[in-house]
Amino acid sequence: MNILLTGGAGYIGSHIAVALTDAGHRISIVDNFVNSVPEAIVRVEKITGKNIVLHKTDVTDREDLTRILHDEKPDCVIHCAGLKSVGESVKKPLKYYRNNINTTLSLLESMKETGIERLVFSSSATVYGEDNIPPFTETMPKGRCANPYGWTKWMQEQIIEDVVKQLKISTVILRYFNPTGAHKSGLIGEEPNGLPNNLMPYILQVADGRREHLTVFGDDYNTPDGTCRRDYIHVMDLAEAHLKAAEYVEKNKGLDVFNIGRGIPCSVLELVKAFEEASEQTIKYEIGSRRDGDVQDIWADTSKAEEVLGWQVHRGINEMCQDAWNWQKKNPAGYAK
Ligand SMILES: NC(=O)c1ccc[n+]([C@@H]2O[C@H](COP(=O)([O-])OP(=O)(O)OC[C@H]3O[C@@H](n4cnc5c(N)ncnc54)[C@H](O)[C@@H]3O)[C@@H](O)[C@H]2O)c1
Repeated sequence: MNILLTGGAGYIGSHIAVALTDAGHRISIVDNFVNSVPEAIVRVEKITGKNIVLHKTDVTDREDLTRILHDEKPDCVIHCAGLKSVGESVKKPLKYYRNNINTTLSLLESMKETGIERLVFSSSATVYGEDNIPPFTETMPKGRCANPYGWTKWMQEQIIEDVVKQLKISTVILRYFNPTGAHKSGLIGEEPNGLPNNLMPYILQVADGRREHLTVFGDDYNTPDGTCRRDYIHVMDLAEAHLKAAEYVEKNKGLDVFNIGRGIPCSVLELVKAFEEASEQTIKYEIGSRRDGDVQDIWADTSKAEEVLGWQVHRGINEMCQDAWNWQKKNPAGYAK
């Protein structure tokens, strides 16, 4: 297939580009590098041995995007472009609503104009309401998001649902849980900007000495070790879900939604311990008070993705920690040379 990937220079997009190229698909990427660097694509080319077509463009620029879709004529678009920092979205909600909603509006309009009929969208477990009891199934109540970032994801899902029905665009929405780890090669990985929002990047920065210690936000939750539990998934397993989703929209009409996680909860302290074992580093941590907005337990019911997409995870927590540490050790300054 000929697949156009928005946000393909980012953390998840670059891993998707590898998975799709390795599977024999032709990839073109649209990215404006607001949170990534072109070097990530050079690394994808190094891993895959294939040239990747790059369009440095803002997805919200509808005219330019329409021209690109017209020239590329993709069989399918995977839409990963978006801003993703929960903390920044609270401080700059307008920036988040403007960018994330407009990327989707612009893309759908351009797809309509150029007659592109297949879409895979990067959504998030943040769309589930706070009151749900895990494991989360796709049909559980949604909305009541905890922050503007989460709302942008939920609103984009709503827009997509209304538009693709009317335009008859075959669509898969993937709700990611907690992607982590990196490609085995250590050539591509996550490069957080400033203070990391997520646990693994924070652990990595303690491991390489950039931060003195990790603060664990509360150890008095109703979980076996008292710390919150999340559903970590190796970024390559997540990338492979996009391969299955692209194949699925090729053969199936309509809109379908799938949770993409491992379906296994892992607590903060369990992840710290697993990282220490995988990296042979000691992670200094302190127990702090609970953080506003944190939910005790989040993990996925992934049976629908397994049964309908025929997708499975192949990598566990140990591999996520090893691969994340391998990336960090080989790239202490991220993609900067
Ligand atoms: N990383 C996670 O934990 C996570 C979890 C759930 C969902 N998601 C979603 O997955 C997608 C990818 O996330 P990621 O972790 O790779 O983030 P990322 O920031 O590493 O990648 C996003 C990419 O999109 C690009 N981009 C942003 N706005 C753009 C625009 N207007 N035009 C062109 N390019 C633009 C950025 O430059 C970047 O390369 C996002 O939509 C995010 O909301 C991420």
